[in-house]
Amino acid sequence: MSAPRGQFSSNIGFLMAAAGSAVGLGNIWGFPTKAASNGGAAFVVVYLILAFLLAYPALMAELTIGRHARRNMVQALRGISTGPITRFFGSLAGFGGILVASLILSFYAIVAGWMVAHLVEPFAGLFGASGAVEWLTGNSVGRNLTFTAIFSGMTMLIIAAGVEKGIERWSTLLMPSLIILLLLLIVYVLTQPGAMTGLEVYLMPDFSHLSPKLLIAAMGQAFFSLSLGVGTMLIYGSYLSQQESLPRLGALVTLIDVGIAFTAGLLILPAMYVAQEAGTQIFSAGGELIAGPDLILQVLPALFDTMGTAGLFVAIAFFALMVIASLTSSISMLEVPVAFSIENLGVPRRLATPLVGLVIFAISSAIIVNFDSLFGLVVSISTEYGQPLLGVALCIFAGWIWRRDQLLAELQKGHPGIENSLFWKIWPWYVRIVCPLLILTAFAQSVI
Ligand code: PFF
Repeated sequence: MSAPRGQFSSNIGFLMAAAGSAVGLGNIWGFPTKAASNGGAAFVVVYLILAFLLAYPALMAELTIGRHARRNMVQALRGISTGPITRFFGSLAGFGGILVASLILSFYAIVAGWMVAHLVEPFAGLFGASGAVEWLTGNSVGRNLTFTAIFSGMTMLIIAAGVEKGIERWSTLLMPSLIILLLLLIVYVLTQPGAMTGLEVYLMPDFSHLSPKLLIAAMGQAFFSLSLGVGTMLIYGSYLSQQESLPRLGALVTLIDVGIAFTAGLLILPAMYVAQEAGTQIFSAGGELIAGPDLILQVLPALFDTMGTAGLFVAIAFFALMVIASLTSSISMLEVPVAFSIENLGVPRRLATPLVGLVIFAISSAIIVNFDSLFGLVVSISTEYGQPLLGVALCIFAGWIWRRDQLLAELQKGHPGIENSLFWKIWPWYVRIVCPLLILTAFAQSVI
């Protein structure tokens, strides 16, 4: 029915793609600002613990199901089902994943579009095109539609090229560039006046913030950051050779994700306090540190403006970093519905990509036009409800519905002897009981 399946050509290719999916706006923007408003290093410590105790086991469940099934989420969950009822729920969760991945992409592409506009802005400034600068940094519907379209187009071009020539090749190119840009920016910002205050705010733990609210914030962040629940990791796992060690690669993905989030904090918080030193307001009227779009789109650009010619390069480097981080994540989201269209509907990749991409762009456009009423709603439905609930579904499928010996057999491929280690003896039980309970408790708390 369909063309031969794509596969990553090496474990590095898989690692770059999966880490690329995980590392995104959530790491560079979300994590540092959440840490700043939740007790600095206290949040960082809780996050680290949760990332390895909750997110890593859940990530492993998703990767293992994907590699075993070598199919998209709908087929994979149906495949490990044992009867008509579980098959029905497998389809339901699979379609849920496709829907939620598409919804996340629809708002993510808008935010990434802002980043592209801000990346272009210094060039317009260089040519003295002040009208263009104003348009690029304004927030008009026209600007947002244009740049969301450009970003979505970039995402589609990569996905249309396939697993090896698109996803793998671009992730392998972009991820190292991201790390280099991040490190260069940190070195520069840390030499500026005020940076040390920011570093202190970030790294001095304030444990008085420890509360259920902090736990929920950290858990939500870990889920979003590791791209869990919606089938992106499942589909990437399905393109991984059975000769590779899943536990090792999954641990590396988690480490890279957590490491880059932590490192991004060394950039964002010092940069905010450098901006304050240069005269920019970094606290809202209520005394809270500015964390939303104003931080990235106003506070930091104001800082770059005070830096003269260097500021031009810093602005370009910073927004290039944001665009790269977004792109390696957005391709993983688009791959979810595209893989389904290829495998279940028999549509060739080169046709499925623009078709699905255009539908998602249409959703983005509807959000842009009704921004105030739709943006927050879509973010909340997809990330606060969709992702955790689907995460629970995946854990239930891995822990309760799939046979334990098959689960372990898949894990042993590429990692013989793993069944003897204590962690992996406990893991199936963990995915069965602890993960769903933890996720559901946090979910109930946050919804109430
Ligand atoms: N992990 C990405 C980030 O931290 O920005 C966001 C993301 C990517 C969420 C892919 C969900 C997803 F399926």
